[in-house]
Amino acid sequence: MTDKKYKELTMSEFTKAAEIYETDHAGVYNMCKKDYPDVLAELEKEPFDDLLDCGCGTAPMLTLLNEKYPEKHYTGIDLTPKMIEVAKAKNMKNVELVVGDCENLPFEENSFDVVICCQSFHHYPNVQDFFNSVYRVLRPGGRLVLRDMTMKTSAVRWLCNNVELPLVNLTGHGDVHVYGKAEVKALCKNAGLNMELFEKRDFCRMHCVARKPKEQSVISLGDVQETALIPLAIKANESRRKSPRIYDAKAVEIISALGIDTDKYDKFASHEGVVARTIMIDRTVSKLLEKHPDAIVVNIGCGFDDRFSRVDNGKAHWYHVDHADSIEVRRKVFEPHERQTLIAGDLFENSWTNGIPNDKVTIIIAEGLLMYFTEDKVKALMEHIHAYFPRGFMLAELMSPIATGNEKMHDTVKNTNARFTFGVKDGRELESYCDGWKLINETSFFAEIKKYSVAGKIGSLLAGKFMNRLAVYKFGDQQ
Ligand SMILES: C[S@@+](CC[C@H](N)C(=O)[O-])C[C@H]1O[C@@H](n2cnc3c(N)ncnc32)[C@H](O)[C@@H]1O
Repeated sequence: MTDKKYKELTMSEFTKAAEIYETDHAGVYNMCKKDYPDVLAELEKEPFDDLLDCGCGTAPMLTLLNEKYPEKHYTGIDLTPKMIEVAKAKNMKNVELVVGDCENLPFEENSFDVVICCQSFHHYPNVQDFFNSVYRVLRPGGRLVLRDMTMKTSAVRWLCNNVELPLVNLTGHGDVHVYGKAEVKALCKNAGLNMELFEKRDFCRMHCVARKPKEQSVISLGDVQETALIPLAIKANESRRKSPRIYDAKAVEIISALGIDTDKYDKFASHEGVVARTIMIDRTVSKLLEKHPDAIVVNIGCGFDDRFSRVDNGKAHWYHVDHADSIEVRRKVFEPHERQTLIAGDLFENSWTNGIPNDKVTIIIAEGLLMYFTEDKVKALMEHIHAYFPRGFMLAELMSPIATGNEKMHDTVKNTNARFTFGVKDGRELESYCDGWKLINETSFFAEIKKYSVAGKIGSLLAGKFMNRLAVYKFGDQQ
């Protein structure tokens, strides 16, 4: 079928539907309105002034938005004149409605903070033109929120594209293609947009968010210690989900500002591991702070972790220690706080502890860190901690020795230059590094991972021994 024919069929279908579109007699509307709550929830995440609705139809989404945020400025565009006529009859203030083709948006460059497109782009025969056009009209840092059909598996999507749509088109519809994640990602990428989120949601829907990068990010990728990008990307992507298990607003902000493709840093196993360890460490730190409210929390190799915002008790003083370039990035994106101190230092030059008080209970966090050091270095680091901090706890992520040297088998670390050089079979092995240290518990991340998916349960049964774990040590006299 030609591009012109698809568009003629679309217009004829929606000309017939326009008058009854927003009634329960138009099946397609009943389907479309299921998208609106998720779109509203997405829009609420960031402020905006100017919004464009592509393929707005009779503008039901703009009606909702206009009621909720009447002070904002809205534009709707649709190919079908009758849809726009019905929308205009609503006489909404601050809403401009235009007949036009989304493959060539007739608006000035950099005009909108956000573009939404619900159940429309599967009608566009030149879909890349649509994405390119969205890129042009979005302001730097602006978002495209895309809702459309997709299928649970690529086999079902293949059947839909090759059997169902051709049949449906014979009955007078102009449906071109049902897209999957990889296709949408490529469309975004070719247009210069960064796809930040693609989730398959209820009712065979995709929920996708892509962003036009900011022209001048305050952060550059070269600034960053690359392994810290893995948990950062995972926390950002988890936070963007509909029901996040952990929420990290800073991770979302930093990843958006960096404009990096998170795919290579966010794979299923790493994702589940990072979410699990974040929950487990958050929980352990919270419990320790309940018992020792004015403790000193020292996060060594902190990367961009923002545990402070999740578990701070209003009393503890937090010290974040990392390489100078990571700390420089942290300084740019985290607001200064009187109970948070940033330390740019090398963990193997003992001066990193200068200035950290040692007269209180200290909670040391070594998350995603020790496995990148040699055994000698781990020993030297722990000896220094032991010598400097008389009493406290250390929360250490430990790796199995089976994994050492096998970073190329790891789903995300293989994409960095990092090497796994330290692993122990049993957390008690570290007790011997420092006199008086006692392992008080050691828990595999699978204890948490298995709560969330069948794959997690199976993984826990088959590979429990090989998974990283959280070891908690106690040292000195706590009283
Ligand atoms: C299923 S309706 C969705 C309407 C509305 N977005 C909603 O969620 O209720 C699809 C709309 O996309 C419009 N459309 C299809 N192709 C288009 C194109 N190339 N440019 C602009 N609008 C288009 C149709 O005219 C129709 O109004």
